Amino acid sequence: MQETEINWETLERLRSRFLDSGTSAGVYWQSEDDLAHYHATFAARIGWKWDNALALAAQAGFQPQSRTLYDWGCGSGIAALRVLDFYGPDAFDEIQLWDHSALACRFAQKTIREAYPQLKVEIAPAPSSDSHSSFHKALVLVSHALNELGYETQQQLSQQLKGAAQVIFVEPGDHTASRKLIAQREALRDAFQIAAPCTHCETCPMLAEENLRHWCHFFGKPPIEAFTEGFWARFSQTMEIDLRSLPYSFLVLQSKQLPATFPASQPDSPSRLIGRPRQFKGYTRLLSCDSAGLRDLELQKRDDKQLWKSLKKEQSSLYQWSEIDSSTQRLKSGSPL
Ligand SMILES: C[S@@+](CC[C@H](N)C(=O)[O-])C[C@H]1O[C@@H](n2cnc3c(N)ncnc32)[C@H](O)[C@@H]1O
Repeated sequence: MQETEINWETLERLRSRFLDSGTSAGVYWQSEDDLAHYHATFAARIGWKWDNALALAAQAGFQPQSRTLYDWGCGSGIAALRVLDFYGPDAFDEIQLWDHSALACRFAQKTIREAYPQLKVEIAPAPSSDSHSSFHKALVLVSHALNELGYETQQQLSQQLKGAAQVIFVEPGDHTASRKLIAQREALRDAFQIAAPCTHCETCPMLAEENLRHWCHFFGKPPIEAFTEGFWARFSQTMEIDLRSLPYSFLVLQSKQLPATFPASQPDSPSRLIGRPRQFKGYTRLLSCDSAGLRDLELQKRDDKQLWKSLKKEQSSLYQWSEIDSSTQRLKSGSPL
């Protein structure tokens, strides 16, 4: 879609609908044109989040274990497209699409077929509301859809997901979306190993009373065109979206019926950096999550200059801490993975 073809009123209408998500239910795609506008803009931005989440999943050792890819709440199909781009179309035999908007299913089917004509791309029947036979051991993707679901539908979804081989969620990086994702993690962790972002499978430490203000989120890296193309500058200005910041939350699961791939929690398991480190004069504060819990740590620059630099440059979100003074929560040394 060219910039000249963009109808900014359509984008503004969609934007207000997304800002309202969680308060009003129902199908909101009004036409194929809505989906085309969405696909060229909001979905492209979601695609950048997927690129980041898939890289972190791969770093944790995640590989598709199913030949069927199932995109739940597919919208314009960006999640399936990004997974196909990342792993290559040879990794799958079949793509299944489901959205309660038939218009969205058809748009996604057409878009994926155009990009990957050799693949079988089907619209799935509506998943049965509470059984876990719907996903037939597929790799299921849920992208920016969980945040639109009410409590009951979230519960039905976790029930249905129990039939999946693997699941990848990518959702907005705000408190509400992250908390919905944590609820899915807790509902599914008996049946699934957790590949990422967690480095352990115990109860999520964010659920502890003292951590309720926190949320599990990360930042993707927008591509260069987000800063160089006039179209993206106008999009950012009109939609009031800061393209430099790409917060998202994600969760990658693999059924316990598959061979164990992800190491069980160990005392020396790595730590996940939540959000961004906060820089101060001569020191950094950071939120670290691992089997020891969620910890607000402080690193003095003089204690480990290399680590301090790596945190400043946001080189990684996965770290191996080598020394922490637990009485002061002072991080003394560590390295990025
Ligand atoms: C913000 S869009 C995200 C679309 C796409 N997954 C993406 O990442 O771009 C949310 C999608 O979820 C779908 N959706 C919302 N509630 C749903 C439900 N209960 N069942 C199926 N699809 C649903 C909407 O129709 C919409 O296409």
